[in-house]
Amino acid sequence: MAQKVTVPTVRAAKGGTPLVMVTAYDAPTARIADDAGVDVILVGDSVAMVVLGYEDTLQVTVADMAHHVAAVARARPRALVVADMPWLSYHLSGEDAVRNAAVLVRAGAAAVKLEGGATRVPVVEALIDAQIPVMGHLGLTPQSVHALGGYGVQGQQTEAAAALIDDATALVGAGCFAIVLECVPREVARLVTAEVAVPTIGIGAGPDCDGQVLVLHDLLGLEDRIAPKFVRRYGTIKAASVAAVSAYAADVRSGAFPSDAESYHLSDEVAASLGPSGPPERAARADRRTA
Ligand code: KIV
Repeated sequence: MAQKVTVPTVRAAKGGTPLVMVTAYDAPTARIADDAGVDVILVGDSVAMVVLGYEDTLQVTVADMAHHVAAVARARPRALVVADMPWLSYHLSGEDAVRNAAVLVRAGAAAVKLEGGATRVPVVEALIDAQIPVMGHLGLTPQSVHALGGYGVQGQQTEAAAALIDDATALVGAGCFAIVLECVPREVARLVTAEVAVPTIGIGAGPDCDGQVLVLHDLLGLEDRIAPKFVRRYGTIKAASVAAVSAYAADVRSGAFPSDAESYHLSDEVAASLGPSGPPERAARADRRTA
């Protein structure tokens, strides 16, 4: 087995071969990601929308995230497992954030990710002081959907772009080992990437980042309802799955499934002892009923 990916491995990938990160939320998706050789598995709070059917990511709790982190960790992936800290799990105090992050680490995460810039510095410092590595997340931060007024591209004006660069510098100063840049212009992502000494991992941030991340269900085409501009679908798994389940339904209805070969059988001896109508006692009872 190839060597386990660690936080120092990821940090050292700055400027090298682009890092590959995908989301996974359970053991089968973690195995898919790991068999494909990704570097980082993100147990994202996108689980809320992608798997649990919520409208936004604000609905998941630390307990929900721990449940999914544990399922991913049980697949024993080679990839680094990073867990999203859900909304309100790191906004109240550094102490509260450390306690919540510890739940995710004990569930199997090697690092946590949180959203926000310079205002998060004290929390990042508290986590790092507790030996919990932190990945930052700037640009479109879905936990701020109400404050931002939607899921639009961020950092499009000079001031906002400059603030993003300052935020990235502040997060790295506080000790973040990597930063996700979501939905920002390519030019801004390039500037941030040039500015910070840790890898930037882009999603909707163009090709100049040190790595890329996509939601697994988007890239597989298992989620086929929405397709943001930055999603490239590498599979049509939803369509393939609907076709497979439809074929199963048709076979059940026509009697083509299951076949005799897909059935278990008695030994000839036991079958003969039962006779064509079942055990002798039952056959006698049936005879009495019809007499
Ligand atoms: O939760 C998530 O899936 C994420 C990625 C979009 C980076 O944070």
